[in-house]
Amino acid sequence: MKILRTRSEISAYTLQQKQQGKRIGFVPTMGALHQGHISLINLAKNKSDVVVCSIFVNPTQFNDPKDLEKYPRPIEHDIAQLEAVACDVLFLPEVEEMYSSDEKWELALDGLDEILEGKHRPGHYQGVTQIVFKLFQYTHPDIAFFGQKDYQQVMVIEKMVQKLKLAVALEMCPIIREADGLAMSSRNVHLSPTERVQSLALYQSLMQIKEGWGKKSVEILKQEATEFLEKSPGINVGYLEICAPKDLQNNSPKEGTPAVALVAASLGQTRLIDNILLP
Ligand code: PAF
Repeated sequence: MKILRTRSEISAYTLQQKQQGKRIGFVPTMGALHQGHISLINLAKNKSDVVVCSIFVNPTQFNDPKDLEKYPRPIEHDIAQLEAVACDVLFLPEVEEMYSSDEKWELALDGLDEILEGKHRPGHYQGVTQIVFKLFQYTHPDIAFFGQKDYQQVMVIEKMVQKLKLAVALEMCPIIREADGLAMSSRNVHLSPTERVQSLALYQSLMQIKEGWGKKSVEILKQEATEFLEKSPGINVGYLEICAPKDLQNNSPKEGTPAVALVAASLGQTRLIDNILLP
């Protein structure tokens, strides 16, 4: 696997591949790779000719410096995993390569960045769009792959692609779960053994909604699942919402129309999110 660290190297490489008629599949990550990321790489391999993965812990999307500091960075292990799945290129820039000190970024996202995760983490999605835009500029992807685990992030990036008329297709890949249902996340390593058991309540609350979908009203489903979570030991509920799938408004989903249920909760110092699509 090629490891490229500068904008000019990755840009020259991907442009050269495109001139040869190759399709670039791009998987942006912040490292600490798990099976969820590997499934994105595998999908990218199926759907493109050259797979570029980036590992960059993006400072502008963290509003808590402690969270940024403690974000896991097992780079040697990440490289070994990418090599094992035959990823073609790793783009591994330093912060100075991606940002100058006086940069400003503000993209109108029609309020999508201010609800749910965005409410809890102000500025987070501005930071995400800022870095994803830069990464798209330097990697020239034909298709970019994102995990459904960060569902709101996918909707935000879709909005950016529409607004800026970017020539990249987006593919959302299903959540990969542990055998007991916990959605894989780089943050799971921070859970104590007790919290790891308690964390299952998130998935269980979503399953409860799924089972009742089409049988009970949206309001009742939301109320019952929220009560279940609030009674679950160790869980501090951030939100549980049933929303319209694109604009994520919680006042529009009706029984029998597609929706998405999204949940966020903290266990000790660790904040987890999960979601489920409702047909
Ligand atoms: O989902 C992530 O890991 C990050 O938000 C992303 C898309 C790589 C941007 O930093």
